[in-house]
This record gives sequence, C-alpha cells and structure tokens, in this order.
Amino acid sequence: MRVLVTGHKGYIGTVIVPMFVAEGFDVVGLDNCLFEECTFGELPPEVPEIRKDVRDVAAADLDGFDAVVHLAGLSNDPLGNLDGSLTYEINFDAAARLARLAKDAGVKRFLNSSSCSVYGSAGDDMVDETGRLDPITAYGKSKVMLDQELSRLSGPNFTTAYLRNATAYGFSPRLRLDLVLNDFVAAAYTTGRIHIKSDGTPWRPIVHIEDIGRAFMAILRAPQDTVQQQAFNIGLNEENYQIRELAEIVRETVPGCEIEYAADAGPDKRCYRVDCGKIARTLPEFEPKWNARLGAMQLYDAYRRIGLTKEDLDGPRYKRLGTVKGLIDAGILDDRLHRVEQAVGTHV
Ligand SMILES: NC(=O)c1ccc[n+]([C@@H]2O[C@H](COP(=O)([O-])OP(=O)(O)OC[C@H]3O[C@@H](n4cnc5c(N)ncnc54)[C@H](O)[C@@H]3O)[C@@H](O)[C@H]2O)c1
Repeated sequence: MRVLVTGHKGYIGTVIVPMFVAEGFDVVGLDNCLFEECTFGELPPEVPEIRKDVRDVAAADLDGFDAVVHLAGLSNDPLGNLDGSLTYEINFDAAARLARLAKDAGVKRFLNSSSCSVYGSAGDDMVDETGRLDPITAYGKSKVMLDQELSRLSGPNFTTAYLRNATAYGFSPRLRLDLVLNDFVAAAYTTGRIHIKSDGTPWRPIVHIEDIGRAFMAILRAPQDTVQQQAFNIGLNEENYQIRELAEIVRETVPGCEIEYAADAGPDKRCYRVDCGKIARTLPEFEPKWNARLGAMQLYDAYRRIGLTKEDLDGPRYKRLGTVKGLIDAGILDDRLHRVEQAVGTHV
C-alpha cells in the first residue's frame, strides 16, 4: 500500500513512519519541516518526501497513493491560540482541500489524526465515540470540523476514519516537552521536582506514540465497512489517569523526585476520560503494547542516554509554541506561518 503521511517529520510521524516501512508500507512524507531544528537523539532513515506547506498541495502531489495519513498541522491548544484563524486555515481549510484532492486523485482511504480534545470538558464519566462533542479551543474545534467534512466527502471509493488520539507520550527524536508525561519525566530528571499547575484532579487519557502507529496501521488494513466514516478513540481504558496519578508514577520512576502543587491550583478545564472499547472490539488485531509506567521508564532512559538538560526543559526548543514563535521572530516564518524564503513548495 502506497501511503502519503503528512506531518511525517513531527513528534508522532518520526516514530510511526519507520513502523509503517518495517511493515511493508510504501511511504512518502509531506511536511514543511517546522521542527527540523528540534531534534533530540538520532533521526530514523529518511523516506521520499514532498517538502511543502499543506496549504500549497497540488493535485499532482496526490497521484498514485492508496491512502493518506494526515498528521500535519498545528498540534496543540497553545499553538491553536496563537491565532484562531490560522488554526482553521491549516487544520481545517487546507486539510479539507487535501482530502478533496485525494478523493479526486482516486486515493481510497483518508485517516485523520484527530484528538480526544473534541470532548472538551466531559468530566469524570467515561465518554465513548457517541459522546457529545464539546471542544473548548480552536484546536479542538478544528478537529471536529475536519472530521465532519471528511464524513461528508466519504463514499464507496473514498473511506474516511478519524482517530481520536489520547494525549501522546513516549520517546521520539522530534521530542515534545509540551505533553504531560514527557514533561513530568523531564522535570523530574533535570530538576528533581514535578510542579503541577492544577490541583491534579483532571482526567487525561494517554497513549504511546507507537500504539498510535499500530492503530493507524490496523485502520489502514481494515475492511472498508468496519472503518468507513468511523471515529475511534485511540488508547486503552485503563490508561485514563488523573494528573496527580501520572506525577506519582513518575515520582516512582525517577529516584529522588518530589511533587509540588501551585499555591493557587484549581481544577483544569480540560478534563475527560475516554472509553477506547470500540477499536478493541472492531479491530482485535490492534494490540497496544505500552502503559504510563513503561513510557516513563523509556523517557527517563532516553533523557539520561542523550543528555536532556534543564535548559531544554525551560527553553522553547521542545515546545511547539516556543519554536514557532522563535521562527517568526527570526523572520523564517511570516505571521501566517509561511516560510519567508520559500513561498512555493518544492519536491526534494
Ligand atoms: N501529540 C499528541 O498528543 C496528539 C494527540 C492527538 C492528536 N494529535 C495530532 O496528531 C498530529 C501530529 O501530532 P504531533 O504531536 O506529531 O505534532 P508535531 O507538531 O510534532 O508535528 C506536526 C508536523 O506537521 C508539520 N506541519 C505543521 N504545519 C504544517 C503545514 N502548514 N504544512 C505542512 N506541514 C506542517 C510540522 O512541521 C510537523 O512536522 C497533529 O495533527 C495533532 O493534532 C497529536
């Protein structure tokens, strides 16, 4: 199967593309490489790529693919809040256009990397895919809008599915420290302290990036009628944690680490527990391999081996918002996040 993976040079893409290749998928990437200076450790072997902004994709870019796995975009709430209209432009308008081009080019399947943030502040009850969509940020809203548009575009020759990923964790050479478990382990290792900004009660489902890769592959291979127009929560029911439980796991993983709560800590608005039973029932071949404790150990080992520093923890390099702001300040991106020296993308 020939697959175009957009956003293949990001946190998730850098890990799942080698998994796809190892399983025999023929992968081409598409990315405008916003985070190429944010590498932590060794990068995997390159795959053929189209170095381009997703907003500049042309019909010819979609020729000859069987499927698209769409990861490219502004990947969290803080980036989304930089400018709400930009979030819709990149995460919705450009992605919907990409999907239309894909359908016109005869691509058979389009999988979106959606998010559990579509549930917003669902509270303490488990929410499954039929739960109310109540996104509270531009990022979350852009995910809902794209999934709905993909549903409208789907048809007998164009299968669409929406992977509502839990918050990702785990080692990637395009490390992100703006994700809760990655951040807690980094803080514990470099400072001996985990500082929790909320009261620690909010629920957060988490999933390892490799298990996200396994979910994508299972859905790429599934018979059309099992996945057509389907949303899947991606994770495991037992991997819903309260923030304070995650901190406790990290405290037990990193010797000599303490947990402290902000003085004025209150509950965080973002709180949801997700039921991931649907993917387990529909695609039993999807077998997640990770849990928070194993992930904390993997991160701790990687930080020690590669040498994470307190400057890395505090600085912008491994936080998406910080990097993007730095690229704007340096004149590399304009305020619409177009590359200044390269208005039109090129194939490399
Ligand atoms: N990491 C998570 O916890 C998580 C959870 C749920 C959903 N997701 C979604 O999965 C996807 C990938 O997430 P990630 O953590 O790898 O994010 P990331 O920020 O590390 O990677 C995003 C990639 O997209 C590229 N990109 C951004 N804007 C682009 C544009 N205009 N044109 C072309 N490429 C562009 C970036 O260069 C980067 O390589 C995102 O859509 C994100 O919303 C992530």
